[in-house]
Amino acid sequence: MSSLIEQAARRLEQLRQAGAEMPAVPPMPIVSPATSKPEANVAKKQTVATSQRIEIDLKALAASGLISPDASRSHIADQYRVIKRPLIKNAMGKGASILANGNLIMITSALPGEGKSFNSINLAMSIAAELDNTVMLVDADVARPSIMRMLGLSPSPGLLDLVQDDTLDLSSVLLKTNIDKLTLLPSGTPHPRATELLASDAMVKLLEDMASRYSDRIIVFDSPPLLITTESRVLATHMGQLVLVVNAGKTLKADVRQAVAAIESCPVKMLLLNRSSSLFKGGYGYGYGYGYGYGYGYGQGGNSGQTQEQPS
Ligand SMILES: Nc1ncnc2c1ncn2[C@@H]1O[C@H](COP(=O)(O)OP(=O)(O)O)[C@@H](O)[C@H]1O
Ligand SMILES: [Mg+2]
Repeated sequence: MSSLIEQAARRLEQLRQAGAEMPAVPPMPIVSPATSKPEANVAKKQTVATSQRIEIDLKALAASGLISPDASRSHIADQYRVIKRPLIKNAMGKGASILANGNLIMITSALPGEGKSFNSINLAMSIAAELDNTVMLVDADVARPSIMRMLGLSPSPGLLDLVQDDTLDLSSVLLKTNIDKLTLLPSGTPHPRATELLASDAMVKLLEDMASRYSDRIIVFDSPPLLITTESRVLATHMGQLVLVVNAGKTLKADVRQAVAAIESCPVKMLLLNRSSSLFKGGYGYGYGYGYGYGYGYGQGGNSGQTQEQPS
């Protein structure tokens, strides 16, 4: 475990040093996988009433700077390929070890605003672009949900409704999209103690249900930050794999350390350095560049296992 932290610290340091010389990189667009329908329908925003199929407006995403379907697409796809490969392998039971609930992947961070939602969407889109893999993207940051908004969609029932009503079936709130291999589970109807529900027995039951019923699917959870809520840590204990997003420009080493300690029990942890280009003179927004790093920690039951760098 400590070597994972050291690795993270080293990478952060390298990025900071490199920051002085490297040019600003443009904001990181969301990867655009093949869509099931041609452009004709994309401009329409839809509210979900009875239909369980929604249209993600890829053009609107592009306009908001979140997506760039063509520009340097392969470069971006390459970056996410490196990140998603080991995750997919582990999820499908082809990784270094057989993981319990390996298809449940939680994206988290130490603090808010580090890029969890952004990277959850990118990762889900990127996996959905694969021929073999279907993805369910879950907005589990229930106190600050943003997946639906970022995708230009209206809120609709979802996770919070499921954990409060066990007669509700997962499939009834799951949303199919115009991206063939992507389904969405929104955070659902707001609840005053939303985050607490994440650590409830009902949530655990739901997770088990998801992992087994959709075992052929990769389920990506956008989650609350680890250092703000204890529930996020509870949630982490049920996940097969975990991606810790670190804002390379801002997150303090001590916070990264604390966040890594909080997720010790998860068998697979990956570190994703999300680089803010505000580090660079003249830069704007966020960038990604070569600015991700990843450590790969295997450990058992809280032991500090060996850490290995994944070959690219
Ligand atoms: N790599 C990136 N490139 C461009 N914009 C980014 C990147 N990472 C995050 N952002 C933007 O920064 C803001 C905060 O990111 P977000 O994913 O919402 O953080 P979190 O979910 O961790 O609170 C959002 O507006 C998001 O679109
Ligand atoms: Mg978020």
